[in-house]
Amino acid sequence: MTVSWSIISVAALAILWNYGSHREWFTGESAANIGCNDNHGYQIEFLSKEPLFIHVQNFLSTDEATYFTSIVPENYTHRLYVNDDDVKKAVAPRLAVLDQEDVYVKCVLNRAQRFLGSMGSPDFELLSLARYGVPHQVQLHSDASQEPLVDSESQRRYNRQTSFFVYVHASDDLEGGETFFPRIPPPPDVGLPANPAVVSINNSTGAPALAVKPISRSAVFWLSLNPDGTLDFDTIHEGLPVTKGEKVGMNIWAKHYID
Ligand SMILES: *[C@@H]1O[C@H](CO)[C@@H](O)[C@H](O)[C@H]1NC(C)=O
Ligand SMILES: *[C@@H]1O[C@H](CO)[C@@H](O)[C@H](O)[C@H]1NC(C)=O
Ligand SMILES: *[C@@H]1O[C@H](CO)[C@@H](O)[C@H](O)[C@H]1NC(C)=O
Repeated sequence: MTVSWSIISVAALAILWNYGSHREWFTGESAANIGCNDNHGYQIEFLSKEPLFIHVQNFLSTDEATYFTSIVPENYTHRLYVNDDDVKKAVAPRLAVLDQEDVYVKCVLNRAQRFLGSMGSPDFELLSLARYGVPHQVQLHSDASQEPLVDSESQRRYNRQTSFFVYVHASDDLEGGETFFPRIPPPPDVGLPANPAVVSINNSTGAPALAVKPISRSAVFWLSLNPDGTLDFDTIHEGLPVTKGEKVGMNIWAKHYID
């Protein structure tokens, strides 16, 4: 089957707010000074080398996850969607834009920046939470955009080179809600104990493909752009429908400036 790029290219994940940025958090404030415990320890595991996919267990501390999960429904005032139809059909999860001065937000961005190292930029898109219940889902999309995005303050053009999707919270009764990468084969069995977050789901052409299960506090990290800056279509993915329970997710996008 030939995949139609016109379908895939629908959009980078759209968010119903302007692409603001947050730049002050990293300048002059060390993690310790703002009260972050960056030492709670996370474990990483490569899921794919090319393109790069890394699973991060315990990306958030328990305090952070508890705090983010406790944010009240009234703060979920936006929507996360791929096209307007998702909003009409009421499958788009609700989104809460976080207070960027919040110490927990700063701690998470600080950790993401450390993780990215030389690949990072000091600028991130506004951090937000998405709350998925039944029947929320996010259709097939790329996090990066075919046309560069524009920073609303500096007017600089950028793209989303790196993505962290953080599973802030997965309810005990959660069913569905996996992040499915139909063009990425599941990791081969190398004799290690299975990672409980990694599942294989057949894609529409019948080949097994990578799906990442929401496990509270964990994250999946990948690169959406090729080295030449073009979109890597193999990293398209969807948030499968939640059929029971609830998950809270968080997207972390560093701005990769183009000029
Ligand atoms: C929730 O919304 C209120 C009102 O807009 C705001 O003052 C508060 O900071 C928000 N809480 C969080 C955690 O973002
Ligand atoms: C299914 O997976 C195979 C093997 O990774 C890939 O070549 C194919 O493009 C995928 N099909 C779809 C529809 O994503
Ligand atoms: C997935 O595809 C494999 C062959 O690639 C097949 O053996 C298996 O039965 C399929 N699983 C499902 C649930 O369809």
